[in-house]
Amino acid sequence: MIKLSQQFSQISESQTVALSGMMAELKRDGVDVVALGAGEPDFDTPDSIKEAAITAIHKGYTKYTPADGIFELKQAITEWLADEYGAEYDPSQIVITCGAKHAVYQAIAAVCNPDDQVLLPAPYWVSYPEQIKLAGAHPVILPAKQEQGFKVTPEQLENALNDRIKLIILNNPSNPTGAVYSETELNSLVDVLASKSVFVLADEIYDKIVFKSNFVSLLKFSSIRERLLLINGVSKSFAMTGWRIGFLAADKSIIAGIRKFQGHTTSNPASVSQYAALQAYRGDKTFISKMVAEFAKRREYLYDRLMNIAGIECVPPQGAFYFFPDVSVFFGKKGNGQPIKNSLQLCQYLLQEHKVGAVPGSAFGMDTHVRLSFATSMEILEKAMDRIEEGLNALQ
Ligand SMILES: Cc1ncc(COP(=O)(O)O)c(C=O)c1O
Repeated sequence: MIKLSQQFSQISESQTVALSGMMAELKRDGVDVVALGAGEPDFDTPDSIKEAAITAIHKGYTKYTPADGIFELKQAITEWLADEYGAEYDPSQIVITCGAKHAVYQAIAAVCNPDDQVLLPAPYWVSYPEQIKLAGAHPVILPAKQEQGFKVTPEQLENALNDRIKLIILNNPSNPTGAVYSETELNSLVDVLASKSVFVLADEIYDKIVFKSNFVSLLKFSSIRERLLLINGVSKSFAMTGWRIGFLAADKSIIAGIRKFQGHTTSNPASVSQYAALQAYRGDKTFISKMVAEFAKRREYLYDRLMNIAGIECVPPQGAFYFFPDVSVFFGKKGNGQPIKNSLQLCQYLLQEHKVGAVPGSAFGMDTHVRLSFATSMEILEKAMDRIEEGLNALQ
């Protein structure tokens, strides 16, 4: 029997795999299933970006690029960082990556030694704990409960930081909760961080998708800039998930290390996608506000529907495109005779009996909740919410 390496064996199977399998099976059988599981905008990539990619192909930009990405794109990103956030970066402080996901992994691997610890607020994006483990480090979970708006407090941070913690991950706006830190909240967290030597990984991939609040970036705080690993990309803001372009902005020495690593692992992010991303950063951005206005309508709708279901508790998201309601009131009840004890079982019940897909909170380190995405049409949202309401009300 084949035995995988220790490194690979320790990666957990995604908790949603069983559900995805179930969903695929139902669809194969011709069952009309609707799902609120999407982690990507349902909008099409803007035409001007597609055109830029087509032009790049015709011009023959179809060869290897420098490992850290084409200079023009790195420069466009420094200009974008300056315009959006007033942050001064040099192209030598930027590396273009195969999606923000690979930027996160490489940032962790660049600063963590084996057995270092990484402070990870929960609920967290599913890939963080596995990436930390793959990098040889250990996640230390910091619970950010619903009562605190799913945000860590300065007191929590002060108590949790110690010499073994090399890095903290702050995902703002958050997947899965949609929580967005205010400037005051960030200020008090930065006060704590500034007095320590910990690296700060800021995953701000949802920065442009915010509702009723201004987004404040960690780029604003010069006291931690030297230790800041800033991650962003085109996937969510420009509806470009499949193009696989993200970036990391950080100290030159970190970028130089990642350039070597990337050069030996992926060579470079896809050349054509880099030209598409160049157009995204340099071109017209009205697409974003139109998309966010549409998300805002769906967010209102979903909130009303959720508030109409007895027992559900929910903090409306300030950013990203997810709701993360507390559904623990339904645990201990029975669905079609089967007891429901956790978020996975609740999602299995909803899918099997009511043909609607949601993502269990256990995948994000909070088993009392489920994640519902509104990156889908109003028509699907309505249908899905009818089924969720019916399913939850049917529990006994
Ligand atoms: C918080 C967070 N970070 C990073 C990513 C990865 O983005 P990309 O598709 O650019 O790799 C995602 C995608 O779902 C995400 O939700």
